[in-house]
Amino acid sequence: MYVNLAVLKETKPHERRVALTPAVAARLTKLGAKLHMQPGAGEGAGLPDKAFTDVAFIADRKALLADADVVLAVQPPAPEVIDAMKPGAILISFIYAGDEPALVQRLVDRKITCFAMERIPRISRAQAMDALSSQSALAGYYAVQLGATHLARVLPKLTTAAGAIGPAQVLVMGLGVAGLEAVATAHRLGAVVEGYDVRPETKGQVESLGCKFVDTGVDATGKGGYARELTPEEKTKVAAVLTQRIQAADLIITTAAIPGRPSPKLISKAQVAGMKAGSVIVDLSAEGGGNCEDTVPGETTRVGPATIVAPLNVPSLVADDASALYAKNQFSLLALMLKDNIVTIDWTDEVLAKTALTHDGKLTTAEVLKPAPVKTPAAA
Ligand SMILES: NC(=O)c1ccc[n+]([C@@H]2O[C@H](COP(=O)([O-])OP(=O)(O)OC[C@H]3O[C@@H](n4cnc5c(N)ncnc54)[C@H](O)[C@@H]3O)[C@@H](O)[C@H]2O)c1
Repeated sequence: MYVNLAVLKETKPHERRVALTPAVAARLTKLGAKLHMQPGAGEGAGLPDKAFTDVAFIADRKALLADADVVLAVQPPAPEVIDAMKPGAILISFIYAGDEPALVQRLVDRKITCFAMERIPRISRAQAMDALSSQSALAGYYAVQLGATHLARVLPKLTTAAGAIGPAQVLVMGLGVAGLEAVATAHRLGAVVEGYDVRPETKGQVESLGCKFVDTGVDATGKGGYARELTPEEKTKVAAVLTQRIQAADLIITTAAIPGRPSPKLISKAQVAGMKAGSVIVDLSAEGGGNCEDTVPGETTRVGPATIVAPLNVPSLVADDASALYAKNQFSLLALMLKDNIVTIDWTDEVLAKTALTHDGKLTTAEVLKPAPVKTPAAA
């Protein structure tokens, strides 16, 4: 007995990642999987077919899917992919069910057991499977590189025979996984870095990286860990402090997100107009509409004194490393179910139960239809 596992070439525009790498292929083979791939699936990530020695290549996508017990993907697959899978087969991929109602219905109708990577619970045991974190960390790192290439100045202090220049001032707004990685990267590159977030616990996190927290003098902590609504006076006070920090920065990286909602606007048009000449904003929240009122998702634009860089799907820009981490995330999840050359799903396992989106013709959760309450509403 063995488990047939299939990986297609991703078809979403600009997606270069792949769900399987040669290192993970070798480990899956040891667990009893027989691996099949569409030719060229790894090319976008710099992985030619010949790098996959444990894999059989099948050009016909339908034939590849028809025999698969498990299909691995990065982006939510096209409906034809689900139609070609056999009932009862397993799909492991990012799905973002709230944005993909037709796809979710297809998964239910075709009785596919779907594990949605964005649903991996954020508990310590599941950290090795947490693809949101692995991809966000890379995006945070890469945002600093992108910003640096658009700046007409360097990040560190440089002392030359002609005199000293720098360092640049960097402000990171939103201190989740991507934001903290951006803080650490800009700090390593020699910039003077400060971070801002509505969650007070991020103060200690940014300080432990050797950087400053922007203290607005207003504590937004409410009951039960939720941020509370600020009074009009408090809002004015926060805005005044942030305007001053925004307009002192050479490079701003924004990463603020609220699950299930459009990106909160942290930088207004008026604040952009008052920024330093030649300054740069890298908006990592472009996918959710952006954290700056002037952001044009997917574009790099010049607005008054500033350049606003708003890339979409940043992990795909570092597809080699992003695929390596993503494939390891998926391997760790698969290792919970792949034993003795068969797939066994232990539904009492919290990680599997919470990550599953559909099983046996049913949605496993009502959350898809009713978004979860938001933990960190915009307080600024
Ligand atoms: N395994 C684990 O335990 C684990 C793994 C990863 C992340 N986490 C935690 O999950 C949380 C979310 O992390 P994420 O990277 O997914 O975050 P995210 O991408 O959802 O959001 C990024 C940041 O934006 C901040 N934000 C939202 N509105 C804002 C506003 N108006 N102004 C300023 N900042 C604003 C959020 O507080 C968050 O820190 C964090 O607490 C993180 O530490 C836990």
